[in-house]
Amino acid sequence: MRPPERVDVVVLGAGAAGMMCAWEAGKRGRSVIVIDHARAPGEKIRISGGGRCNFTHLDSAPRTYLSANPGFAISALKRYTPQDFVRRVDQHGIAWHEKTRGQLFCDGSARQIVDMLTRGLADAGAELRLATTVTDIERSADGFTLATSTGPLACRALVVATGGKSIPKMGATGLGYELAARFGLNVLPTRPGLVPLTLDPLQLERLAPLAGVAVEARVRHGKTRFEDGLLFTHRGLSGPAILQISSYWREGEEIEIALAPATDVFARLREARARHGRQAASSVLAEFLPKRLAQRIGEQETGAKNLADLPDTLLRAIEAAVNGWRLKPTASEGYRTAEVTLGGVDTAGLDSRSMQARHVPSLYFIGEVVDVTGWLGGYNFQWAWSSGWVAGQSV
Ligand code: FDA
Repeated sequence: MRPPERVDVVVLGAGAAGMMCAWEAGKRGRSVIVIDHARAPGEKIRISGGGRCNFTHLDSAPRTYLSANPGFAISALKRYTPQDFVRRVDQHGIAWHEKTRGQLFCDGSARQIVDMLTRGLADAGAELRLATTVTDIERSADGFTLATSTGPLACRALVVATGGKSIPKMGATGLGYELAARFGLNVLPTRPGLVPLTLDPLQLERLAPLAGVAVEARVRHGKTRFEDGLLFTHRGLSGPAILQISSYWREGEEIEIALAPATDVFARLREARARHGRQAASSVLAEFLPKRLAQRIGEQETGAKNLADLPDTLLRAIEAAVNGWRLKPTASEGYRTAEVTLGGVDTAGLDSRSMQARHVPSLYFIGEVVDVTGWLGGYNFQWAWSSGWVAGQSV
């Protein structure tokens, strides 16, 4: 057997976190190889943010992440901040804009971010080894040895940046979780996050005519609420507000939706009844809801009656249908369409300043494989940059 090629650091996964880590480690003079089984690096970056990559959120803070230990992210986020990443984007001449408050996107293509990372790590002397599979990993006296489809490798430090399980079609695997378990780290149960929710066939049949309708809604699960877009689909509900709440929701639980959160629906209906009793409730609802939705709710609650014939109790029922719609989604669309994976490598086994495993020196876990999952809006890439950066300073 030929002797292994020796480097200081092997990074598994050429995604956002892995490439940031390799770039930083290379700048510190480490010899680095980044391995990925995909043919191209940073595929999720390329398709992110509708092709424009929502590369950070300026308000990235522990409260915007889900984790068994939300405080774990503080150190990395403080050491490598959204402003630090923006500076890097600026230095590479990538134009960007703030879409909604704090959410930063490329003006041009998400490929610019991928190019910045691949060029950065190459300039720092790190090597990208694509279309390479890892068949075995062993602990050695001074680090790790890896059997790969392009030959054996030996390294002092191993960084696992293989991401989550979301979108298997794009190369997601459970390798990171398997490695963590194999080296004795605890792995918390995983589930899809930032994902559309599905409804039962009966509900779907009733809502089918609304497919394609979008509103600005407030969606609540327990004490957590988000105000953002909601989209009726052929399978159930989607849109940013639903994706956000999906990370908190679990099967069997209820969510509550306000379809016109800024409107006092009861007051509007009562006023209209006093002024124009001969109109239908749906005409009033259509003043602040899309017409199809207004018609659907108006007819469902009142039939074809005029407002003049509706007592306050019925106006209250319409109000509840608009702003207190409680429903139990049946499931999520799963990893097939989920943007992220919740759960993963338990942060209790990692040092938050370096991302190094507490009981396995020189083994690091960064990015989405770790039990730190952001809201929608650039938080997940910021976690990838921050965790990748801190590991890059330590390897
Ligand atoms: P990432 O998944 O990026 O990289 C992991 C790498 O490991 C991949 O290149 C993969 O091929 C490789 N790999 C996996 N298994 C392997 C194996 N067995 N052997 C070798 N290599 C292996 N976030 C955000 O902040 N803003 C946004 O706009 C979006 N938009 C978005 C859109 C869509 C459609 C998705 C699916 C996701 C987003 N996200 C997002 C989330 C974001 O993409 C995600 O959180 C980061 O890419 C995570 O970065 P990582 O580097 O941890 O994993």
